[in-house]
Amino acid sequence: MKAFVLDRYGKQRALRLADMPIPELRDDEVLVEVHAAGVNLLDSKIRDGEFKLILPYHLPLILGHDVAGVVVKVGSRVRQFKLGDEVYARPDDFRIGTFAEFVPVKEASVALKPKGLTVEEAASIPLVALTAWQALVEKANLKKGQRVFIQAGSGGVGTFAIQLAKHLGATVATTTSATNVALVKSLGADVVVDYKTQDFREVLRDYDVVLNSQDGKTLEKSLRVLKRGGKLISISGPPDPEFAVEIGASGFVKLVVRLLSAGIRRKAKSRGISYSFLFMKANGSQLQEITRLIDAGVIRPVLDRVFPFESTNEAMHYLEAGRAKGKVVVKVK
Ligand SMILES: NC(=O)c1ccc[n+]([C@@H]2O[C@H](COP(=O)([O-])OP(=O)(O)OC[C@H]3O[C@@H](n4cnc5c(N)ncnc54)[C@H](OP(=O)(O)O)[C@@H]3O)[C@@H](O)[C@H]2O)c1
Repeated sequence: MKAFVLDRYGKQRALRLADMPIPELRDDEVLVEVHAAGVNLLDSKIRDGEFKLILPYHLPLILGHDVAGVVVKVGSRVRQFKLGDEVYARPDDFRIGTFAEFVPVKEASVALKPKGLTVEEAASIPLVALTAWQALVEKANLKKGQRVFIQAGSGGVGTFAIQLAKHLGATVATTTSATNVALVKSLGADVVVDYKTQDFREVLRDYDVVLNSQDGKTLEKSLRVLKRGGKLISISGPPDPEFAVEIGASGFVKLVVRLLSAGIRRKAKSRGISYSFLFMKANGSQLQEITRLIDAGVIRPVLDRVFPFESTNEAMHYLEAGRAKGKVVVKVK
């Protein structure tokens, strides 16, 4: 099968289009013929070598963390899916590889594709939707009437998280630049801060939850908008000790992680705020819940651009430029 392969870690290093064997299917997996693959900054960060400690992959590696396509083979222990099912998924870590014609995915990580979406739209959903779900539902336990500040509302995670937070009944504030104000308002944002001309600390007060996706400076500033008892959840680091335990990190990695997040954890604690890092995980049952919300018209995908498969490297570079409005997808079939 054709696939985009990372041969060596390196900043901005191009993936190689290669002919690779179809990975062997395990008993608890379905083989998905990839019709479209979502592009995520995680692909770029792995390529650049930024995740070597947390996700020690053996190279060569096929990148790609989001897929929409059709089931063409099922493992002997698979019960919920059959040949021909239209599905989508965020494959598990160490089993990624959607920048390819086929990818095996664990049954427990797959869900039926929302009926009304094109494959390109469906491929744009899993990773960012699960991130938003795991941050707002699992970690934050966001409730009706609460106030949440979702940074970068016009990005992949932001466009989904705003809609999910509104569905949960929260008041949503977000940051974006002037050109994207109409977009984030159309998704339901109640308060929009233009990060280029305004400081969000001067506009937002006494929030219950912040979903941080920006740099360390923004993370620290976020403490100022939270009330006592509030929750600061970061998806852009630094990782916290709980995360190190979750991934079964070595003593050395645990120590590094503890040190990396010591400052923000101390500052948060002194203000009565909890800090936690989220690294999203594959989860088919949560994705099924997300399918229901999309089918019901509660949440819609926001697709910025679709690239042909041959242009996967260009698609990654486009996303890395940081200006995407919603998601970037590669059409494979
Ligand atoms: N830990 C996890 O599980 C996890 C999961 C998903 C993503 N992430 C991380 O979360 C971050 C965001 O991911 P993403 O896919 O949503 O990114 P993205 O789609 O590339 O975000 C692009 C958007 O960010 C906006 N933006 C850029 N700089 C901004 C700033 N300073 N303030 C507010 N908005 C700004 C841009 O709007 P303008 O053009 O208007 O500037 C653009 O619309 C990345 O670091 C990613 O790696 C982590």
